[in-house]
Amino acid sequence: MPCAAGVEDYLAHEVTRITGQAQVQKWRAGVLLQGSWRDAMLLNLHSRLAQRVLVQLFHAQYRNEQDLYRIASEVAWEIWFTPRQSIKVEVTAQHSPLTSLNFAALKIKDAVCDRFRAKAGGVRPDVDTQWPDIRIYAHLTTDTVALYIDTSGEALFKRGWREDKGEAPLKETLAAAMLAASGWSDTPDMPLYDPCCGSGTIAIEAAQIACNIAPGAMRRFAFEKMLPFQSHVWDAVLDEAHRAQRLPPPGHKPTIFGSDVAHRMVDFAQRNAERAGVADAIEFRGGDALQRMPPCESPGVMLVNPPYGQRIEAAGVAGVGHQQQRRSAAAPPQDDALASPGGREQAQTDDGGDFFVQLAAHWKKNYAGWSAWLLTPDLKLPGKMRLKATRRVPMWNGPIECRMFRFDMVQGSARADKAVDKATDSTAG
Ligand SMILES: C[S@@+](CC[C@H](N)C(=O)[O-])C[C@H]1O[C@@H](n2cnc3c(N)ncnc32)[C@H](O)[C@@H]1O
Repeated sequence: MPCAAGVEDYLAHEVTRITGQAQVQKWRAGVLLQGSWRDAMLLNLHSRLAQRVLVQLFHAQYRNEQDLYRIASEVAWEIWFTPRQSIKVEVTAQHSPLTSLNFAALKIKDAVCDRFRAKAGGVRPDVDTQWPDIRIYAHLTTDTVALYIDTSGEALFKRGWREDKGEAPLKETLAAAMLAASGWSDTPDMPLYDPCCGSGTIAIEAAQIACNIAPGAMRRFAFEKMLPFQSHVWDAVLDEAHRAQRLPPPGHKPTIFGSDVAHRMVDFAQRNAERAGVADAIEFRGGDALQRMPPCESPGVMLVNPPYGQRIEAAGVAGVGHQQQRRSAAAPPQDDALASPGGREQAQTDDGGDFFVQLAAHWKKNYAGWSAWLLTPDLKLPGKMRLKATRRVPMWNGPIECRMFRFDMVQGSARADKAVDKATDSTAG
């Protein structure tokens, strides 16, 4: 099961919880286990951290493309699917001597098709690179090839509830990794607040955890189209998951909160939460993170994927000055959001610098007792915020190396100010 680098420990723990199996091997960016067909269904339905659930069908030594053709011809593909289903072959490699991975994929596809043609009276599967029924993966090292069939289909971060994205949505799997790394997933009664919630990913993932709603309950999987699929087993797995849900009772006061300076985002988040079945478990509001007071009395955890640089700019109070500069220096703004009331939704600071300084000051003054976790590619952020990071967890957002920094807010600013994090550079990682 592949996952984002940095998430392996949490995924191994999750796999053990879902399947009851203690024997889970960790690899870089993935875990491996021996499991049943039912385990594959359970993992697809319940894993929040895995990118996919792959079944390894063959592992062998190879030297060239002819070897790949021969090896792929030996796999009994006809156990898994019929020649009337479409396929796609993808190849990844680490230190492979082959010059073209596309050519390697072509050889494997030829082998699969030729095997079917020989066994099924000339009928062979079609290739569909966009919406294949069946995805086949090959992973090459210097001298070994592993062949997998993908039981998930679309990547598992696609939970089926997101229609409204916003500019820079966090992948659901990464939001879940943040919740796991912060420890909140183990204490889901604790208040949780995302003051830059965007389309609501962190809050929605959290609410589904609190309500015990399976992340895959709203989507379909590739295994449903495979020959070994038994619908009565799957129905029973789904039924069990459904009965385990703990929806909030009527009148329940949410302990999960999200807010964003862009009201459009708050609408997106609200609609996404409705589709995800957790609208009653979250309170979304508009508001500037630099001004909003704690959403509840007892302190809890803030989990933030803040506006950052290239993809999305800090807005609100911190951005007003810059926005005015930009407006006078450049042509009139085309973007509707810039013309929003108060003109504050898209204003920026160059690298978010002012925003983070002001955020730290606001938190120190008003959020005593809260812990804040920030996901950022800026390894020097604690220094910039003049806060001491009490934890730093490496995490990859796609190809971008990030850290989750934890800051514990103490009453009054003196302690936090003294503890400016001088060690940020050297201890990163
Ligand atoms: C990287 S995005 C967060 C994406 C979110 N995690 C998601 O999955 O959709 C950063 C968000 O911060 C918001 N933002 C920018 N400045 C803000 C401010 N001063 N107060 C609150 N939110 C702000 C932006 O509107 C944007 O939605």
